[in-house]
Amino acid sequence: MSLAPISVATLAAMKARGERIACLTCYDASFARLLDAAGVDVILAGDSLGMVVQGHTTTIPVRLEHMAYHAACVARGRGRALLVADLPFLACATAERAIESAGRLMQEGGAEVVKLEGGAPMVETVRRLTGQGVPICAHLGLLPQSVHRIGGYRFQGRDHAAAEAIRHDAIAMQEAGASLLVLECVPAALASEITLTLEIPVIGIGAGSGCDGQVLVLYDMLGLNPGRAPSFSRDFLTGQASIADAVASYVKAVKTGEFPGRDETPH
Ligand code: KIV
Repeated sequence: MSLAPISVATLAAMKARGERIACLTCYDASFARLLDAAGVDVILAGDSLGMVVQGHTTTIPVRLEHMAYHAACVARGRGRALLVADLPFLACATAERAIESAGRLMQEGGAEVVKLEGGAPMVETVRRLTGQGVPICAHLGLLPQSVHRIGGYRFQGRDHAAAEAIRHDAIAMQEAGASLLVLECVPAALASEITLTLEIPVIGIGAGSGCDGQVLVLYDMLGLNPGRAPSFSRDFLTGQASIADAVASYVKAVKTGEFPGRDETPH
């Protein structure tokens, strides 16, 4: 395994040779060190911290300063893994605000890629950000920041029109310059089709095994939310001797295509 830092170009090369990308969320330096040592390729300082760290029921209360703080903690712990950080709720409500917010995540938080939720309405913002040299990870499908608009954490893209909109937005994001795409809670067949269509790597969560990589919320895959973890997640800690072993087993399961399995795959 190469010890060179992982960049968006590394991930594109992994996609080209069919090597799956292992990604986990992370919110602090100690876990970042552990994830990195276990071979995680991409560490996401996700706004899921609002739920699993801050104890809120949604990600909406998370503010930009929280994201910059946690991204900076992660940046101090990780080694070669690529650091992606989330723009929180409304931090990209206008292109100007998005540029300012992304600047803080990169300059204060040490993020190398900035992730934002949203489809068609965000395409111009992505174009503006990438034009300024900000690497972007787009996020389509279930958009947790839109939970109140959607009316709950629901699977997306099940009917023809919704699937078509996600397909269209994915291509538009790539054309606007995004380097990565996260697809959350969409049918496996749709995620596979988009993965084959796009040149940029697609990381799935609740989107089946046909994506170029997988991401899970760290605390879910460590079984810290018994009874509340989503059905597409897996407790990798049970049966392992340590957290490091659990993370290594996740990386192996993603790389070999063993995770997600049939029961963890939405249709
Ligand atoms: O914030 C987060 O953890 C995320 C993942 C669920 C992809 O966006």
